[in-house]
Amino acid sequence: MAILANEIDIDLVDRIIDRSGSDPEALIGILQDIQTEWHYLPLPALSHIADRLGIPYNRVWAVVTFYEAFTLEPLGKYHIQICTGTACHVRGVAEIVRALEDELMIETGHTTPDGEFSLECAHCLGACSMGPVIAVGDEFFGHLTRSKALEIIEELRKRSGVDLK
Ligand code: FES
Repeated sequence: MAILANEIDIDLVDRIIDRSGSDPEALIGILQDIQTEWHYLPLPALSHIADRLGIPYNRVWAVVTFYEAFTLEPLGKYHIQICTGTACHVRGVAEIVRALEDELMIETGHTTPDGEFSLECAHCLGACSMGPVIAVGDEFFGHLTRSKALEIIEELRKRSGVDLK
């Protein structure tokens, strides 16, 4: 198995490309499949895709940075989606966003340096009556207040065995 510089399995990248065909028109589909596999787009995979499709790296980069759905940053072990849909907005989700950003010392759209947490604003998570709502993987937490949001972070840190402040 060939491994690229940052532990990316190049053979898997190749299999994904082979599945889609090495037509430059397949670029977006290949990127989606790569992101499904790694939950982000590793840079070495991007240059390999450019080589395999015979297109300039700049073209791959332009597509990756154009679509918000693509991310170049690995998600945290605990990926927190914060619903910013209308019902949660009306019920004060802005305060929850501030609390989580302050506590984790990152802005939404980013991952903590230790790789434990990432924050993302999401559209309606389908639990409007429980707003404000966040989802951590498959777990939903509703009727959030600032203190309840911070308790959730503390609980997740305990699960991870991360030193509490
Ligand atoms: S608006 Fe937040 S769950 Fe629907």
